[in-house]
Amino acid sequence: MPRHFLRDDDLTPAEQREVLRRALELRAEPFARTPLAGPQSVALLFDKPTLRTQASFSAGIAELGGFPMVVDGRLAQVGVRESVADVTRVLDRQVSAIVWRTFGQERLDEMAAVSAVPVVNALTDQFHPCQILADLLTVAQHRGGLDALPGQRLAYVGDAANNMGASYLIGGATAGLHVLVGGPEGYQPDADVVRRAEEIAATTGGSVTVTTDDPAAAVADADVVVTDTWVSMGDEESAAQRVQDLSPYQVTPELMDRARPDAIFLHCLPAYRGKEVAAEVIDGPRSAVWDEAENRRHAQKAVLTFLLEQR
Ligand code: NVA
Repeated sequence: MPRHFLRDDDLTPAEQREVLRRALELRAEPFARTPLAGPQSVALLFDKPTLRTQASFSAGIAELGGFPMVVDGRLAQVGVRESVADVTRVLDRQVSAIVWRTFGQERLDEMAAVSAVPVVNALTDQFHPCQILADLLTVAQHRGGLDALPGQRLAYVGDAANNMGASYLIGGATAGLHVLVGGPEGYQPDADVVRRAEEIAATTGGSVTVTTDDPAAAVADADVVVTDTWVSMGDEESAAQRVQDLSPYQVTPELMDRARPDAIFLHCLPAYRGKEVAAEVIDGPRSAVWDEAENRRHAQKAVLTFLLEQR
């Protein structure tokens, strides 16, 4: 059975550390590992919009010696034109791994259950685990290496009910971070996700704190302040309501001042200046968002090499 990366806790704390170690190695030496030499192909299947994910996986797969086979979800119509299982059985005869951005996590689970090759979550409605690996790498980069990760205080504010909120909780707890999430009533993380993150944090020395209606409390003394769009892909219909509900959570220079003086700002992008973040913050000296976007490539290459070795 192949190993998959469907959610953040598919890697144990030791495995996550090994992946991050490889990512640092690959950042220093991009062509150090070429497990896809041939080239072998990796399918990149997108049911939702993409920029960073397509670019970073494509460049990364090429650096691993492979061929990135982009499959347009609008043409493939997975689950409409043919079933998830049939699509998977066709693709896994052509490629060495499948990377999929889609809607419900259950679609990815269905693919993983029948796939003969590793399946990687490139974002679902529930999780975005590749992004969190890139973010952990960015924190390590700005804090003196992987050993500095455990104990960092990461505050995620805004739509804490979305995929990024869930992945920060579980992936951050796996790395031994103190994860603080803050969002208003109605935008709180799923209770199962919080429970799972607490369970992991208890083994790594990290912790999980969920706050409501006080963005300043969430970011107090944070080493890392993070936010995400208030309107995730698929939430467009409730956009106006979301902007109204979440407006107190904009990351402003004043909110950043509640964090530690050397705190960095992260955002998975795309960013909406004047909505979830003020331009002065994302375009200011404490922002590490471009390193973060670059680190997608290194982190994803590392996770692919790890999964391909487990077969
Ligand atoms: N929460 C956002 C993340 C985008 C990378 C979304 O799902 O649209």
